[in-house]
Amino acid sequence: MNARPSRRFQMRDLLIVLDGPAGAGKTTASRLLARELCYTYVDTGALYRGIAVAARDAGVRAEDDAGLRALCQGMDIRAVTDAGGARVWINGAEVTGELRTPEITMLTSAVSARPAVRECLLGIQRRLGQNKRAVFEGRDMGTVVFPDADLKFFLTAGLAARARRRHAELQGDARHRDKTLEEVTREMEQRDANDSGREHAPLAAAPDAVWIDTTEMTLDEVLRAMLARVREQAGNDACL
Ligand code: DC
Repeated sequence: MNARPSRRFQMRDLLIVLDGPAGAGKTTASRLLARELCYTYVDTGALYRGIAVAARDAGVRAEDDAGLRALCQGMDIRAVTDAGGARVWINGAEVTGELRTPEITMLTSAVSARPAVRECLLGIQRRLGQNKRAVFEGRDMGTVVFPDADLKFFLTAGLAARARRRHAELQGDARHRDKTLEEVTREMEQRDANDSGREHAPLAAAPDAVWIDTTEMTLDEVLRAMLARVREQAGNDACL
């Protein structure tokens, strides 16, 4: 007996991007969304952080565009994401443990404003996204790196809420437990100003991005809101 093929709902492969300021919940939301869809998750901030570690170790200052260009050109940078988050290797040496120190966080904000660094990572990010089925998180994903992404989210939240979240995160790390909420708030404000005010690829929402203000939302609510948009998108492109 010939079994009739079942009508199967297939979702076309999507490239999904999330942009937004620090502490808006992008990392966790992107990771969960990618897991839900069985997509790859790419934390582009980790790549910028890796370059900041390399610049510090090589003694290249954030203002030294020529030095940064030379550093990036000869660099082999690799990243994978596992359950613990993004892991990064620079020229074969793992730098994951250093990516999120307050020192590297501030240095990354400065280094990521430099055109040499952005140019170097542009091609790498586009190559990583060429097969779609990926969720990319960053600051300029929807505007510069993937202006043709299938679905763009812009996650935001009030400064106080974002600083509270980051402060709570640091409480889990013995090295930074004594940072006060005021310090974290000040640093975040500084980073917001750097990321949004820079000349090259500033943090900005793409005109076609879906805005989600996470200030009063639980993670589950954020994820459900994103999945609803993914389904809408898939519905528009559904095939049998
Ligand atoms: O997302 P994050 O906090 O790990 O990002 C670290 C820094 O890198 C942040 O100051 C902004 C910058 N960044 C960027 O300029 N462009 C990206 N696509 C991702 C991060």
